[in-house]
Amino acid sequence: MPLTAHAPLTIDEERFAADLSAMSAIGWTNESGMQRTTFSDAHAEVRTWFLDRARAAGLRTRVDGAGNHSAILEAADPRARTLLLGSHLDSVPSGGRFDGALGVLCGLEVLRSVRDAGLDLPMSLEAIDFTDEEGAVLGTLGSWALAGELTSDALASPRCGRDVLLSGLERMGTSEEGLLTAARDPAGLAGFLELHIEQGPVLERAGVAIGIVTGICGSVSFDIVFRGAARHAGTTPMDARRDAGLAAAALMLEVRETVTRDFAGCVATVGDVHLEPGAYNVIPGVADLKIEARAQHDDELDRLSAAITELARAQARRWDLDVHIESTGRWSPEPTDPRMRAAIAASASRLGLTVMEMPSGAGHDAQVMAKVTASGMAFVPSHHGISHHPDEYSSLEDCINGSNVLLGATLALAEEL
Ligand code: GLV
Ligand code: MN
Ligand code: MN
Repeated sequence: MPLTAHAPLTIDEERFAADLSAMSAIGWTNESGMQRTTFSDAHAEVRTWFLDRARAAGLRTRVDGAGNHSAILEAADPRARTLLLGSHLDSVPSGGRFDGALGVLCGLEVLRSVRDAGLDLPMSLEAIDFTDEEGAVLGTLGSWALAGELTSDALASPRCGRDVLLSGLERMGTSEEGLLTAARDPAGLAGFLELHIEQGPVLERAGVAIGIVTGICGSVSFDIVFRGAARHAGTTPMDARRDAGLAAAALMLEVRETVTRDFAGCVATVGDVHLEPGAYNVIPGVADLKIEARAQHDDELDRLSAAITELARAQARRWDLDVHIESTGRWSPEPTDPRMRAAIAASASRLGLTVMEMPSGAGHDAQVMAKVTASGMAFVPSHHGISHHPDEYSSLEDCINGSNVLLGATLALAEEL
């Protein structure tokens, strides 16, 4: 009997809702929302919670050398390949409850639903929580490690600094060498499915339940440090200053103007500026900026990177400063797999849910996994498009719809094998 012959199998809504609520409380603060950055105590706590819930459901659990946490439902056939379903439990600082967490819980719920239904699929299922998707450490560290895409360059200059990386890995019970053991043979993978909140307003505005992601944007990030001279703010004439803060301010505006004028469809953001020494009465001698830019195509991303670094150099010349530009990450844009998109579409259609295809302007583990295995993503609406903020919200109904879609897509893929 085909797995998708009858009324669609659906998740246990009560169990899912209770778990979503329990999971959302871990790391939540009333003052500043979700605080589950990688290596934080709350991050460790929610990961332990995830493994506990998996064990309570009778699933096997595993933590790999990159700290990726998994729940596993094995197929009877030991040669069966594994379909991964998941996302990440880490958050940005002062983030929301749903980004990443929804996808991990959905993965767990798909496994539990398949097991409860007594189905023996021709593939093993693995719900996975990837380490450090958000980039407090490196960005998509866990999926890079699993995909075998971690480079020594990336590990040599992580965003968080070497010391934080090494001590954090040790706290997680692993090491730099351990990271390399997380690489999986792609031949053993049947694919990767990720459910995520849209994080933008498109689905809600269109009144559509499910977004089928066509591709995931690429991004680059840089630390840019201008160095001038910290001098007395009262006695140094305006024409005798080497004020690093001015370059930072001018660069922020120029990046926006350049992207708006010359890079249609791309975005760039200065997310952090730090001036030193930081006093009313001292001209800033150092300005440190964190910049990132995103594009849907590789060549566009390269041109955008070149434009930003040239703007920074021009500002250094203008204000008579030194400038140091360090690349702190590059993620290529990746299309999703047509077979995965079709499975998601078929599942949504069986559930009577409206769909639309759309690109993702946010980065995701699926973009890394797409390099080594067929990967697909589904989005559910984000209220007012708010994300990376405590007000991030997706209704329970939407979260359940998305999880049912991934369950159905999983069964559709199993049928194809
Ligand atoms: C991940 O959330 C990103 O920054 O896109
Ligand atoms: Mn995310
Ligand atoms: Mn995020």
